[in-house]
Amino acid sequence: KMDAFVNELMSRMTIEEKIGQLNLPAVGFDVTGPILSEGVDEKIDQGLVGGVFNTFTPQAVRKLQQRAVTNSRLKIPLLFGYDVVHGHKTIFPIPLALSTSWDMDLIEKSARIAAREASADGLNWTFSPMVDISRDPRWGRMSEGSGEDPYLGGLIGAAMVKGYQTNSLANRDAILACVKHFALYGAAEAGRDYNTTDMSPIRMYNEYLPPYKAAIDAGAETVMVSFNDINGVPATANHWLLTDLLRNQWGFKGFVVSDYTGVSELVAHGLGDLQTVSARSVSAGTDMDMVSEGFLKTLKKSLDEKKIGIDVIDLACRRILEMKYRMGLFADPFKYVDEKRAETEILSAANRNDARKIAAASMVLLKNENQLLPLRKNAKIALIGPLADNQRDMIGNWSAAGDWKKAVSVMTGLKNMAPDLKIVYAKGANLVDDPHILKQINANGAEIHADSKSPDELILDAVKAAKEAEIAVVVLGESAIMGGEATSRTNLDLLPNQQKLLKALKETGKPIVLVLMNSRPLTLTWEDENIPAILETWFAGTEAGNAIADVLMGNYNPAGKLTATFPRNMGQIPLYYNHKSTGRPYNGVSNEKFVSRYIDSSNDPLYPFGYGLSYTTFSISPVKLNRTDLQKGRNLEAAVEVKNTGKYDGHEVVQLYIQDIYGSVTRPVKELKGFQKIFLKKGESKKVIFKIDEEMLRFYNSELKHVAEPGDFNVFIGSNSRDVSQATFKLSN
Ligand code: IFM
Repeated sequence: KMDAFVNELMSRMTIEEKIGQLNLPAVGFDVTGPILSEGVDEKIDQGLVGGVFNTFTPQAVRKLQQRAVTNSRLKIPLLFGYDVVHGHKTIFPIPLALSTSWDMDLIEKSARIAAREASADGLNWTFSPMVDISRDPRWGRMSEGSGEDPYLGGLIGAAMVKGYQTNSLANRDAILACVKHFALYGAAEAGRDYNTTDMSPIRMYNEYLPPYKAAIDAGAETVMVSFNDINGVPATANHWLLTDLLRNQWGFKGFVVSDYTGVSELVAHGLGDLQTVSARSVSAGTDMDMVSEGFLKTLKKSLDEKKIGIDVIDLACRRILEMKYRMGLFADPFKYVDEKRAETEILSAANRNDARKIAAASMVLLKNENQLLPLRKNAKIALIGPLADNQRDMIGNWSAAGDWKKAVSVMTGLKNMAPDLKIVYAKGANLVDDPHILKQINANGAEIHADSKSPDELILDAVKAAKEAEIAVVVLGESAIMGGEATSRTNLDLLPNQQKLLKALKETGKPIVLVLMNSRPLTLTWEDENIPAILETWFAGTEAGNAIADVLMGNYNPAGKLTATFPRNMGQIPLYYNHKSTGRPYNGVSNEKFVSRYIDSSNDPLYPFGYGLSYTTFSISPVKLNRTDLQKGRNLEAAVEVKNTGKYDGHEVVQLYIQDIYGSVTRPVKELKGFQKIFLKKGESKKVIFKIDEEMLRFYNSELKHVAEPGDFNVFIGSNSRDVSQATFKLSN
């Protein structure tokens, strides 16, 4: 039925109308790239637009859709896309934070709520999930992904796809997911956004491609191409990537969209003029051109000059029309415009309540000396820091349609939670003083202004507040706008003014709880040595303040675990747990010379992948295997006994890592292969069993064949990638 419908429609389309379906201009409220689309209304009337993005609300969408289905000759409905990245109006924690919950149900739920709100608000396509693996916190977009691990990143990508798309595009509250940025965008050299990537195929297949594949296997209907080059050819024009790998090897059936001006940027990449790069892009497998209008302006000419065939345009056009058909847009172009549903769905109490739970679950307790946390409900607290009484930054970067005025600050959260809490407040420092950063972020909408008081006066106020209180809760970090696209940094220490504040507060001798908000791992070596309690809260979304209060006051026992390594210093970057051994590994103890190490720093991270504390303590017994010999088609069990040995009920994420000791190629020292997030009441014990089979041991060898090689394997189980116990088994032929 669909084929007949699309065939008939295409038989009536002019070349221009077919190319029009491949055109995706930006209209409306948001600017997410360097230029704005012009004359969009007229182009819609002429049938020269396939979809639009950056606009929403039932009213705005209805208006444009009405134009398309009334004024254009063939009345083809439009797609409406938007960056619904971590929530639509109810904003959830930034994606990196979502990943630190290690909770696939909660992550899927956040995507489901986002889709329900967005679809009621006129949208039918989100540019999410972002599944780019990144090991480089200099790159500001690390905040949009799930960190450094391909296995975990794949599970999260798949959970989000399910949350957005549900089990059927026919559902009114399902929206198209878009896996991005295909591929390797997170490996930009030196962590500088949009920079060159260069990677061996074996690393690509084993470490960077799996999350895209997992999200596509989960049914993602669209893919967004990355800005970078791969093996010398930018992804947008990379036939190997978009056709050989994505479609022929992986069986992807949906459509592919470029990133913002990704097509026309190929001119700056040095691939040719606009006509050349547009022809190359569509021939490579980019079906839709976001904002460049390279397709619109040049594909007809390329066709006339026989530089491309009509089959290429037909194929891309068909993919987009088929998607619209499957979504039910031809049957009801206004399917996603629902004023009533928008009113009841958006920012509902239930959605906010879920956002609060998800936010609390994403927080990571990095340090808690002498059980300084949780706070007593009647304690006298000095609440200090530029992020302490701040709503604006709570929803983080890429917070889409989120309204920061609806966000809960830490101050409000604490007051909501414990009206008896005595709070003395001091700002303590400007959020950002560094003139370079300030200039850059204010030019992009941050609106951070220096306080009327001088930096020294702000510190004096804070010291006074601390002295009046029993304990200082100091809320520091980045401004939200220092994370996300085009926010690469070369220094990840707390900003100097904030560090100065923290040092002055330490001098008071008062116990300090450092509450951090940031979009990526920071270098916190001084803080770790000097501050007794550190809670990483990322940017936690609309309900940030309430969720932080839940954790600080012990209503929620933190259970988040890092999904990206925190380095000790910038020189260690890139630093990640699943590295190779090298031929001269350093044992971390001896002072040998000819080994792989630094002479001025430890090799070890400050906080390893998988790390995070709880208010309670857990003991995990040494790993026991039920057999030490594994055959294909069978499995073995690796088990540990986990006991809650502390004073609170709580969750632990028990993690399974495996090492292939000898391989035909070098293999990582360990790789995450499973985890279980369990809940234990105080004093309670549970046996945690992981089944290991041959499939889990497969990897891409030097011929890029996915194989498991017989031989010895180490199994590690523990509470993070460092603190594990070990056993060994053999995979036989
Ligand atoms: O989806 C984004 C992408 O991640 C970066 N460039 C702009 C796109 C659309 O807003």
